[in-house]
Amino acid sequence: MNSTNQSLKPLTTKINSAGNIEIGGCDLTALAENYGTPLYVLDEHTVRSVCNDYKKAFSGYEKVNMMYASKALCSMATAALIASEGFGFDVVSSGEIYTVYKAGVDMAKVLFNGNNKSVDELILAVELGVGRISVDNFFELSLLNEIAKSHNKVVDILLRITPGIECHTHEYIQTGHLDSKFGFDLTQIDDAIDLILNNYKNLKLHGLHAHIGSQIFETSIYGDEIEILVKEIARLDEKFGLQLDEINIGGGLGVKYIDTDCPPSVFEIADIIIKRLNDCVERYGINPPVLFLEPGRSIISTAGVTLYTIGSSKQVPKGKTYFAVDGGMADNARPSMYQAEYYAELVNKPEAELSSQVTIAGRFCESGDILIKDIKLPELEEGDILCVYNTGAYNYSMASNYNRVQKPAMVLVNNSQSDIIIKRETLEDLISHDEIPDRLIRK
Ligand code: LLP
Repeated sequence: MNSTNQSLKPLTTKINSAGNIEIGGCDLTALAENYGTPLYVLDEHTVRSVCNDYKKAFSGYEKVNMMYASKALCSMATAALIASEGFGFDVVSSGEIYTVYKAGVDMAKVLFNGNNKSVDELILAVELGVGRISVDNFFELSLLNEIAKSHNKVVDILLRITPGIECHTHEYIQTGHLDSKFGFDLTQIDDAIDLILNNYKNLKLHGLHAHIGSQIFETSIYGDEIEILVKEIARLDEKFGLQLDEINIGGGLGVKYIDTDCPPSVFEIADIIIKRLNDCVERYGINPPVLFLEPGRSIISTAGVTLYTIGSSKQVPKGKTYFAVDGGMADNARPSMYQAEYYAELVNKPEAELSSQVTIAGRFCESGDILIKDIKLPELEEGDILCVYNTGAYNYSMASNYNRVQKPAMVLVNNSQSDIIIKRETLEDLISHDEIPDRLIRK
């Protein structure tokens, strides 16, 4: 069965009677005109649909906690939307903790990850009652125990481990391989457990956590990960008499950025995960653990597109034809960081005949600010609106103010209605944190 992460475009994308592209019943030319560009557009129906895929796909396993990885896109509206689907949240900073808290999320359904959580962040997590903290290293074990003690609390934790699995994705987004900066090496687990059982009385360990990478297309790798986690749980039971009843296998399922990408469906992945988990539970003789999942990209990427206005162009003699848009690497860092590829269409003439190949350049002052290399589009004119697909994940969340350019707005579309969920930054916003020391103020 297909699932939403396998779609190149939001599910509600169509060409309307005016001949323009619409998403969520909203004409994209009208959105560009009303809200300006660059504009992030997020389709509510697509987000709900992928949440439903996950719920349906994993309904065969009794105890599943879906924790959306907020790092993919974190805002109060998206938190409220995804919480309304029954999901919890994986958060990695006080900013993400505060956002989901202010959005009204049940903090018991929040899990705090990260390899260098600060004292202030851990205190905030403990004070707001974050449900689980996935402890990454020895330093954090001791720090968190102190904080828990000073708050007179016992804090519920998982241990983040490095399972030693290499997945075939971009090197920067692999995380489970052996010399990763994240988590306890398998050889360090026993020392950590010793400390928790004997020294750190304010920590209650529930289970093990791993995350093997992102934009993953391989299916069998999740089976390998489960095998390692369950084997460790069985070993720890035998050695320490410790009955851990939770495993967190992280996120990572890929999406379809361009036509040739073929990510597996949520159903395919769920099938492999559940079968292997049941099989391991039986083989290693443990009680079926609660399964935590932390999907980020696959929940939010497909639902998002970015609208840009075409501006200047340059034809290099005997070389490429560049068209520049009014955004680029500051609103979508992925092409320059990971050589990520994207697909785009012209919103106002989606069906016009494709002409020659062009390169879509960003507006930022770096030669590397190229959004799409060599794409076939209809004849482009200044003022045309370009829709870049699959920008819901790791675009806004990684956006910067490079060149002191304001971050774009984001609108949520559904049933022909559009609502601003993140306001466009203003020039005043840009200088709102600046101070000039008195001695520099011209009298
Ligand atoms: N859980 C943990 C512990 C993670 O580190 C991550 C992502 C996730 C869950 C969610 O993974 P997802 O389902 O989104 O693949 N900026 C990069 C991606 C970095 C992912 C970091 N960790 C990109 O734009 O491709």
